[in-house]
Amino acid sequence: MLKSLLFDRYTVRQHMRYLRRNLTHEQQNEAGIMLAEQAMKFVSIAHAQHITLFLSTDGEIDTFYLIKMLWKTKKQVYLPVLHPFSPGYLLFFRYTPKTLLQLNKFYILEPFLDITQMITLEQIDIILVPMVAFNDQGQRLGMGGGFYDRTLQNWQQYHFLPIGIAHDFQHMTQLPIANWDICLPVILTPSKIWYCY
Ligand SMILES: Nc1ncnc2c1ncn2[C@@H]1O[C@H](COP(=O)(O)OP(=O)(O)OP(=O)(O)O)[C@@H](O)[C@H]1O
Ligand SMILES: [Mg+2]
Repeated sequence: MLKSLLFDRYTVRQHMRYLRRNLTHEQQNEAGIMLAEQAMKFVSIAHAQHITLFLSTDGEIDTFYLIKMLWKTKKQVYLPVLHPFSPGYLLFFRYTPKTLLQLNKFYILEPFLDITQMITLEQIDIILVPMVAFNDQGQRLGMGGGFYDRTLQNWQQYHFLPIGIAHDFQHMTQLPIANWDICLPVILTPSKIWYCY
């Protein structure tokens, strides 16, 4: 049973990652622009000041346009950084056009660990969450590290709203979900807002 669940998760991840990595630059640009417009219109984001995002890799929906729009509207953007002492956990650090970045062990760029630029979960308004696949109930599969599941544990006790972002085709009717997976209340894709409460 556990074996077939793990196999399913692996297969879904491989399939979706393959599809998204094969998008053309034009498709990625168009999706990134549409997502940015969608996100800037979304009322919780429009009213937010402190927003965490991620730098896209592996065909993830392009966050570049959204980051530029958030900067332009004077919102503060933060990126995840692997926790130096607690494996599997993330910290979030301010990201500006001047922020120096370095590659982490997953070859993902992250800000240098400058404690003056750190934001706590209590201070965050919105966490934009990467996804490999999702369904109508807001269930998600990530890349398999459990980083966002840990970050979002008991998120209702905080002030922030988690919002998943992905390409439209990453939607699936059914997903092999595990009991530690945290559901998302809202998901934004280039052409749709999914309310999952
Ligand atoms: N809250 C948690 N505490 C401890 N371990 C966890 C927690 N959430 C998930 N994990 C562990 O992390 C591993 C990966 O989880 P999972 O496959 O759900 O990752 P994911 O949701 O795809 O990744 P991510 O959240 O980084 O996008 C699992 O083996 C799981 O046991
Ligand atoms: Mg998970």
